[in-house]
Amino acid sequence: MTIYRGQILDTPKSPFTGGALRVESDGGVVVRDGRIDGFGPFGQVRSAHPDDEVVTLDSGVLIPGLVDTHVHYPQVRVIGGLGMPLLDWLEHCALPEEARLVDPSYAEGVAHDFVRSLTQAGTTSALVFGSHYPAAVDALFTEAERVGPRITAGLVLSDRILRDDLLTTPEQADRDSRALARRWHGKGRMRYAVTPRFSLSCTDEMLAACGRILADLDTVLFTSHINENVAEIAQVTGLFESDYLGSYARHGLVGPRSVFAHNVHVSDSELAGLGGAGAGVAHCPTSNAALGSGLFPLRRHLAHDVRVALGTDVGAGTGFALFKEGLQAYFAQQLLGPDGVPLTSAHLLHLATTAGADLLGLPDVGDFTVGKRFDAVWVRPADGTSLDIALRNAADADDALAKVFALGSTADVHQVWIDGDPIDLQRAG
Ligand code: GUN
Ligand code: ZN
Repeated sequence: MTIYRGQILDTPKSPFTGGALRVESDGGVVVRDGRIDGFGPFGQVRSAHPDDEVVTLDSGVLIPGLVDTHVHYPQVRVIGGLGMPLLDWLEHCALPEEARLVDPSYAEGVAHDFVRSLTQAGTTSALVFGSHYPAAVDALFTEAERVGPRITAGLVLSDRILRDDLLTTPEQADRDSRALARRWHGKGRMRYAVTPRFSLSCTDEMLAACGRILADLDTVLFTSHINENVAEIAQVTGLFESDYLGSYARHGLVGPRSVFAHNVHVSDSELAGLGGAGAGVAHCPTSNAALGSGLFPLRRHLAHDVRVALGTDVGAGTGFALFKEGLQAYFAQQLLGPDGVPLTSAHLLHLATTAGADLLGLPDVGDFTVGKRFDAVWVRPADGTSLDIALRNAADADDALAKVFALGSTADVHQVWIDGDPIDLQRAG
């Protein structure tokens, strides 16, 4: 057994429903066989476990492993394509790169870059938009298995509107998705997600095929995009003669295993549908800002009991750091004025950890509750950096956490554990 000693912060009780940041300023978390066996003030934990090894995290903070609920693996090399709205960005930036993954050896390189970037950011669990090509999805799972993060991902499906080399048929999609799910769903930390790209690029026949897979494989997840951009929404509602949610709901794709990304321009009746079905929404704040998609109506989601957590949406999103997403989520709510939700640092941590684990159906991770798996991030800035100075001068733990979101970057992620095992962050030097 190992006791990790340091300033420990987590959010087992949601700050959106009366909870607060849980703080152990000189805390101990006891880890046995990858599981949390004890938690509390260090003195108390130490007297219960006098003979166990102690690892002292001498500065910075220990937080739960971060959870990214929406991130695109084939877009890792095109982050930062600024200046375009969604449909132009897809055509000129994302899709040409996604088509390159038809070459399995190119895909292997991208998978390597992606998993490395994810873990360097302190992300220990993610719901990942895969590739349009089965071999490239295999490459992602293979690399994730080698390095360690919990990955839920799937073959991206489209049968219209996108460039030809990214299209498949509903029949082929069915065969390929089921074969990938058989290979990967439940293998170690890997799980499968049925992944139509968005209704705009899928016919009713394709979405119906997705519905059949989801009904047959009762523990796989479902993920797609919804209500991101006004031009996109106008096309979808025209094609389906319904609202955006209706294009998925008519095929049984809206339920507790569903995670929809964006949902910026959403009607109250769609929010009621999402809340009633227990579906989740991945809020991707830097992407919403970078593509000019809009400001996320968090208050209305909360009012309809829609589950929400953070996603980076790399590569429209501007990086893998969930700290930056948290800060941008805070900015967006500020900009909404009276329609926004004033977010504290505890809200941001919750959205980046416990809420994400909930959205992904991972009840064993997200915070340091005894019995959960030890997925953790030691945020320890280099001496003399602005975050180091800010942390040393923080008024209290909530303030220290606010500093992490304001100033933290992937460079401040000093160590990462998954199931109690340290992860090789593959940094040079
Ligand atoms: N909608 C369909 N595909 C995409 C994508 O790759 N990124 C974003 N942000 N929205 C999408
Ligand atoms: Zn996306």
